[in-house]
Amino acid sequence: MKSLNINIAAYFLPLFCAFAFLSSPVFTAETCEYPALFNFGDSNSDTGSMSAAFASKLPPNGDAFFGRPSGRVSNGRLVIDFLAESLGKPFLHSYLDSMAANFSHGASFSTSGSTITPPKYLIPVYFVPHGWSPFPLYVQFVQFTQFKDRSEMIYNQDPNFKYTVPKKEHFSKALYTIDIGQNDIGMGLFTNNSIEAVKASVPNMMEGLKSHIKGIYSLGARTFWIHNTGPIGCLPYILTNFPVSDKDTDSAGCSIPHNEISKHYNYKLKEAVYELRRELPSSAITLVDIYSVKYSIYKEAKSLGFKEPLKACCGYGGKYNYGDNFTCFGIETSKTINGKKIALKSCENPRERISWDGIHYSEAADKIVFDRISTGAFSDPPNTPPSMACHQRSSSKN
Ligand SMILES: *[C@@H]1O[C@H](CO)[C@@H](O)[C@H](O)[C@H]1NC(C)=O
Ligand SMILES: *[C@@H]1O[C@H](CO)[C@@H](O)[C@H](O)[C@H]1NC(C)=O
Ligand SMILES: *[C@@H]1O[C@H](CO)[C@@H](O)[C@H](O)[C@H]1NC(C)=O
Repeated sequence: MKSLNINIAAYFLPLFCAFAFLSSPVFTAETCEYPALFNFGDSNSDTGSMSAAFASKLPPNGDAFFGRPSGRVSNGRLVIDFLAESLGKPFLHSYLDSMAANFSHGASFSTSGSTITPPKYLIPVYFVPHGWSPFPLYVQFVQFTQFKDRSEMIYNQDPNFKYTVPKKEHFSKALYTIDIGQNDIGMGLFTNNSIEAVKASVPNMMEGLKSHIKGIYSLGARTFWIHNTGPIGCLPYILTNFPVSDKDTDSAGCSIPHNEISKHYNYKLKEAVYELRRELPSSAITLVDIYSVKYSIYKEAKSLGFKEPLKACCGYGGKYNYGDNFTCFGIETSKTINGKKIALKSCENPRERISWDGIHYSEAADKIVFDRISTGAFSDPPNTPPSMACHQRSSSKN
């Protein structure tokens, strides 16, 4: 009898343990330690690439936090900065920073105006929003490949650089963040001006995105934190360039058909992420619903203290304080318009604006975006905060 009990226990115990493990991954998983962060994307997470490559950003960018232009198109910190802070890391230097850069804890390859698909017209010949970055995702991937190879070489060969590049083994344990797609939609609109044509080109964007994520994985990356795209139909530059009728405007004042493109992009992105999870068996990919978070800010604008939620804080002209030719992310701080010299300046209280410059969010808005995603409440797999993203967990239903 006794021996039978032992046999039964020996038989069922492993099963029981397996069940306990599967049913409560949160309790068994430890907090992830990321020795480094590597970031890819566009101006939503550009910590200085465009500025390093071409002209410096001008004041009043950086006013709210850095006290000077920091290379970011914002009055302060971006979501990626709040993420780095929350993980106890210094802000990420841009890979293109040629002065005093320290990449020990990672690097950002994001560049303002970057697209997944090859750009049509390049910055600096045509400036944003009619020109796009010469560093699209493909180039960022090539830069990362070189960064990784050379870091290994430098780390081993030159003791002077040991404290400025990541260790070889940190690449596989790092967190890889990606926020791109907004400019592919923008480029589609500016070149074709047809909602349907842009929607039809989304599968092509997804092919590019998937192949580069696979490329980054093939270099040893395992943990990905991928942002979907925000509601483009709420941005002043879209509302100004592509005005829609009242019937196509929602209660927040955003363009319904333009937001439909973002939603369609995000639907396809979700499919792509599920496919990647199946194809990259050792990956842990978290997809973050930035659309819902950003949209919730427009919906709750009043209670969050935002006045005139669709009006840019820094800009000039029109209903939304925005005009393509004279912007806060541009190359001039003053301009003579109808014989009058106009200077670009920040609105009086940037804390009360969602949009900083017509395309980019204010630091106040980005802080709320980060606070809301940092709990894991907008993640797929569900309830995945950044600190748990290294664990493979089951997806929500496809
Ligand atoms: C670079 O930053 C790391 C912390 O991430 C620090 O330990 C290291 O000393 C820094 N390197 C230099 C040269 O300051
Ligand atoms: C514009 O539309 C054409 C035809 O539908 C398509 O081939 C092209 O890729 C589109 N361009 C962009 C930038 O979306
Ligand atoms: C912006 O500048 C371009 C080129 O200089 C010009 O063709 C266009 O009319 C300008 N747009 C506005 C709204 O002033």
